[in-house]
Amino acid sequence: MKEKRAQFATRFGVIATTVGSAVGLGNIWGFPYKCGANGGGAFLVVYIICVAVIGIPVMCAEFAIGRGTHKNVRGALRQLHSSRLIHAFSYIGILASILILSFYAVVAGWTLEYLVEALAGQMTASPAADFSSHFGDTIASPLRAIGWTALFLVCNYFILRRGVKKGVERMSNIMMPILFFILIVFCVHSFFLPEVTKGLTFLFHPDFTKITPTVVLGAMGQAFFSLSLGLSCLLVYSSYFSDKENLIRSAGVITLLDTVVAVLAGVIIFPAVFSYGTNVAEGPKLVYEVFPAIFASMSIGWLWAVLFFLLLFFAALTSTISMSEISIAFLTEEWGLSRKRASFVNMVVAIALGSLCALSFGVLSDFTIFGKTIFELFEYVASNILLPLGGIAFAVLAGWGIDRRFVRDQLTNGGSTNKWLYPIVLFLMRFIAPVAILLVFLYVLGIL
Ligand code: PHE
Repeated sequence: MKEKRAQFATRFGVIATTVGSAVGLGNIWGFPYKCGANGGGAFLVVYIICVAVIGIPVMCAEFAIGRGTHKNVRGALRQLHSSRLIHAFSYIGILASILILSFYAVVAGWTLEYLVEALAGQMTASPAADFSSHFGDTIASPLRAIGWTALFLVCNYFILRRGVKKGVERMSNIMMPILFFILIVFCVHSFFLPEVTKGLTFLFHPDFTKITPTVVLGAMGQAFFSLSLGLSCLLVYSSYFSDKENLIRSAGVITLLDTVVAVLAGVIIFPAVFSYGTNVAEGPKLVYEVFPAIFASMSIGWLWAVLFFLLLFFAALTSTISMSEISIAFLTEEWGLSRKRASFVNMVVAIALGSLCALSFGVLSDFTIFGKTIFELFEYVASNILLPLGGIAFAVLAGWGIDRRFVRDQLTNGGSTNKWLYPIVLFLMRFIAPVAILLVFLYVLGIL
């Protein structure tokens, strides 16, 4: 089927859209809860190292492949390499995107629920502790848990079936800056909480004895997840970039903004966790239990709550749209489905798997595989295994597998920019990133 190639309209649009994919629940929900459960500052340090030495080169690899071919992932891999094994790597991305969409929709569903409760004025009307237990009841109720997850996926479907490029670009341009602004307001509020020092010490004062294989793998997985890397999502987006775009600079800006948002979320959450006596290692529910307490302590808290959950809902949508694009591009281009039908299939599969994830907090909470609930298993397998594997594949392909001139032309725009940055990125891409990912795997398997 002949594909119409769209392009993002402006440089701001390029950044806003890719940041829209990167910034989402991973930053505001995932980072604080994982950081909290994995030793605070130590996790942050390992996370930042992973972002710098693995994240940036893998992102540059995806960008070079995507922008250089202007194709979807399978098309790009086919154009660049004849090996079928390499082509098969596109399936890892598709599998990862489906697993992620399924558990992500559950958390995005919580955001919708909060939005509705905040609109009804319920979040600040009752004491925060009551709200947390009310939240516990809601996610334990099978119908409600599945209902919110499905509702979110239906919203995702309606945007996807119309084709995303213009809509997403325009929406991201407006939403992303407002979200950023609101986070800053909450940060300032956090500085006035009683346990601000304790919270910030937890986040910024690393205790290196806390670094274990689990912490390192978790931080690396979170870096991949938060930057939307390793599943060809940014590869597909960069295929819409213009040839003038400076890829290394874009990768730097996106990585920086994404990391800043995650750290801001930590600065908001941890002082609140210690001030309100929540358990810092609470797990996936952490952020959703702490926020109501924050709103309850703010003046016109309900309005902040509405604004915040609305923006979080959009941040989640811009991320789920980007991950859904992977399977939709595959279904339309490889199986010849229409865009509408492909979006529908994507939604139905995600609702089926997402329901299992949603039930992991209620009736299926005792159903575990390798000691993990279905929700935890999906998150673990996608972030900690599939995305890093995809990362190795893209880094090795761009670093070793394809014509060096192709990659150099992409990363330097034909030799006109990044003269001294390019060799550094190439070195990280060829040697450091793949080896670092392998070392983490060996460390976790107990071989190192
Ligand atoms: N990066 C997104 C977030 O932090 C999640 C995501 C993962 C989006 C993978 C696309 C692909 O929320």
